[in-house]
Amino acid sequence: MTIKKAVIPAAGLGTRFLPATKAQPKEMLPVVDKPAIQYIVEEAVASGIESIIIVTGRNKRSIEDHFDRSIELEQTLEEKGKKEILAELQGISNLASIHYIRQREPLGLGHAVLSARQFIGDEPFAVLLGDDLMMSKKPALRQLMDVHEKMGTDVVGVQHVAPEDVSKYGIIDPRACTGSVYELADLVEKPSVDEAPSMIAVMGRYVLNPSIFPVLEFLERGTGGEIQLTDALRKQCAASPIHAVLLEGQRYDIGDKFGYLRAGIEMALSRPEMRGQVLAYLDGLHGRMAVQ
Ligand code: UTP
Repeated sequence: MTIKKAVIPAAGLGTRFLPATKAQPKEMLPVVDKPAIQYIVEEAVASGIESIIIVTGRNKRSIEDHFDRSIELEQTLEEKGKKEILAELQGISNLASIHYIRQREPLGLGHAVLSARQFIGDEPFAVLLGDDLMMSKKPALRQLMDVHEKMGTDVVGVQHVAPEDVSKYGIIDPRACTGSVYELADLVEKPSVDEAPSMIAVMGRYVLNPSIFPVLEFLERGTGGEIQLTDALRKQCAASPIHAVLLEGQRYDIGDKFGYLRAGIEMALSRPEMRGQVLAYLDGLHGRMAVQ
């Protein structure tokens, strides 16, 4: 079945990026000249998504304002003849049909997804984490949707991680692998490196069947006292097959300070109008640091 709806959870507290996230959600932090969440919405639209629900928490206004029209600003740009940026701004508000729901308490990713249940109804849907940016030739979500359209199963996006990083992620226990698609035997949320069944971690992209909702509804709180999406997937896994697709592309966790810096530098390098300037700066910086 073709996926038309997506959930973007953006209600986390962003404690790893305080104080920047004290008064604004991390999903609104700019990467070059766009807030992170705009890249996510663009990826969803490029994958074929038509309706998006953003799960917001405190400080939600800036997200809503960003995807809404700003009539006064548009008028001023029109009067000043700034046609290019005007068209870009109008494009943002026409990207997709965007809806909002408030997660009253940040009780975890699973809880955020559950709060979108009414909007999703009884059809498969996508989840894109608001703080996980992907830069890839084929949109990351599309890579998952292609597998779901063939198999009809829940699909998660994965990438290999270094041993020191396994305890930060949901880690898969693969049963079989065909090309870049794994069939899962199990998943574990944030295991220690000794207990990890692999070094393959779930990144922030999922395609889920609506059967996940009753599982989430009756799930007990897991790691960190939160309702974990990984725990719900684990239960699903025992009942029906789940697949993981090895994502092609670069992934940036912008909720992490270094991940955010990397995203800014590499996204700027991917823009032809900025590439030369950034490379020259990095070269000069390298030279300066070497003589210190
Ligand atoms: P994280 O695991 O990065 O948690 O959430 P966090 O609370 O936002 O950040 P830190 O760890 O305190 O720095 C992954 C994604 O799930 C959303 C976040 O907004 C982020 O996009 N999320 C998380 C929710 O929407 N609700 C929650 O209760 C938790």
